[in-house]
Amino acid sequence: MSFRTIEWRDNKVIMIDQTRLPAEEVYNEYTDFQGVAEAIRGMVVRGAPAIGIAAAMGVALGAREIIADSFDTFYRQLENVCDVLGRTRPTAVNLFWGLERMKRVALQHKELDLNSIREILKAEAISIEAEDLAICKEIGRHGAALVKEGAAILTHCNAGGLATAGYGTALGVIRGAHEAGKNIRVFADETRPWLQGARLTAWELMKDSIPVTLISDNMAGWLMKSGQIDFCVVGADRIAANGDTANKIGTYSVAVLAKENRIPFYVAAPISTLDLKLANGDLIPIEERSSEEVTKVQGVTIAPEGVKVRNPAFDVTPARYITGIITEKGVVRGDYETELKALVGL
Ligand code: MRU
Repeated sequence: MSFRTIEWRDNKVIMIDQTRLPAEEVYNEYTDFQGVAEAIRGMVVRGAPAIGIAAAMGVALGAREIIADSFDTFYRQLENVCDVLGRTRPTAVNLFWGLERMKRVALQHKELDLNSIREILKAEAISIEAEDLAICKEIGRHGAALVKEGAAILTHCNAGGLATAGYGTALGVIRGAHEAGKNIRVFADETRPWLQGARLTAWELMKDSIPVTLISDNMAGWLMKSGQIDFCVVGADRIAANGDTANKIGTYSVAVLAKENRIPFYVAAPISTLDLKLANGDLIPIEERSSEEVTKVQGVTIAPEGVKVRNPAFDVTPARYITGIITEKGVVRGDYETELKALVGL
């Protein structure tokens, strides 16, 4: 990849600042977990897998800051670090998956001295990042097989290299099809209010010379109706046991329109995005973000002062609208309840 989303280097966490793309390609350095928590909350890093990696790296930084003389004291403080990181964004389950994995690794090594545990936590965070890249490539390989030669593909938000360790989930499918020599074209929804599609998806696809056309969100339906879209693929922030999927606000509308127009609608996500404890999508917490994201575009006010605003950052697409869920272990379709459980060996 021609950019690095997140990286551990010299005991610092380095992240490309996604709030400044595409105008500026700036890398921020974080030396403490509070900084990483702020970066997640402020969307310097965003996208479910990427915030899972950031949270894990935040825990590794936090572990270095803890002063303790026993494992129990160390672990209590590590739990506090995880609580701070866990309060940043509620919807993407990968964040909590990353935190739980780091706590489990600490507990598994409780007999070791604290410095060894700190090193093990650092190594774990680095390997979560490396694994994510490999997982995205597998998602890309499975998904590419579903894409027909010459397909026009619609995607929403950014489920790309910027939302993962690299390569992406939905954009992994697109990259996989492109690398397989299929002559694909992408339509990127701009994705109001934060403009992940316009600012990030368009930027990273252009960098890779993958043909991309930007549309505003309200154009997707008409393009589908007039036969200009063949395939839809999006990422996910949390997938419930029955296949209901939370993803960026606007995904539900895309899915309903795709069904109405008989266009396949796929979700691409790693297994770490499954939350099989939740029976259905009604139980997924939906983040509500600041009203300013709606009343302003790139700092310019576009609405009357004092107007009431809603800003749910995600919606839930019922499983019946989803043609299939593309994971690193293969594509699941039909009876999600049974198939998703089988995927994780339950
Ligand atoms: O608010 P964001 O930008 O973090 O939302 C991101 C999305 O909704 C992505 O589609 C999702 O996290 C999948 S990323 C591979």
